[in-house]
Amino acid sequence: MNSAHEFLRSRRSTRRFRPDPIPDSVIERILTTATYAPSAHNLQPWRFVIVKNPDSKSRLGIALTTKMRVDMQAEGAPESETEKRVANSLRRIDEAPVIILLCRDVTVVRTDTPEETIMNIQSTALAGLQLLLAAHAEGLGGNWICWPLYATKETQTTLGLPESWEPQALVFVGYADEEPKQKELKSLNIVSIVI
Ligand SMILES: Cc1cc2nc3c(=O)[nH]c(=O)nc-3n(C[C@H](O)[C@H](O)[C@H](O)COP(=O)(O)O)c2cc1C
Repeated sequence: MNSAHEFLRSRRSTRRFRPDPIPDSVIERILTTATYAPSAHNLQPWRFVIVKNPDSKSRLGIALTTKMRVDMQAEGAPESETEKRVANSLRRIDEAPVIILLCRDVTVVRTDTPEETIMNIQSTALAGLQLLLAAHAEGLGGNWICWPLYATKETQTTLGLPESWEPQALVFVGYADEEPKQKELKSLNIVSIVI
């Protein structure tokens, strides 16, 4: 197996980070590499918001967890469970040295059809994967976090985003402070068919 395959197979989600800062030049390189992802019609609908200022991180954390609390209460989750998840989420936001909010620009579509919307989202997700791999290439850990999907408006308002920038995910980036656990992969026999 060549080293490119080994590299791709060795990327794992990192959920504990050392506090060491990441040089701006490294973040810029990661984001630039992310923009090399393929996109439908080469429209490049991805947008990135780099959140690293402690005050911005804190405001983002409050916005996301306030909505998280409301949603969990509405679902009837026990208060202790809600507060545990809120505290854990705030800790994770605080510990991540850099958070990249991955957005899609909803106006960057060729025509206003459901298929084009899906392609816009798919293209943005590919940039997200490329971002994670670029971070891995820099010796950094990363984690894709879905929380903004549940708090689109709150995220946009808190960070003062343009209205057309729709949050898709947060990508936490930093130097790993954990060893990834063994991961069980579904066998190729289960996830593929030959016809
Ligand atoms: C669309 C998507 C949403 C995810 N959301 C979260 C999340 O909210 N929190 C989290 O800790 N990990 C999240 N992950 C990371 C997955 O849990 C992780 O990729 C999976 O367990 C496989 O582990 P690996 O990345 O180490 O290979 C998400 C991944 C994807 C692709």
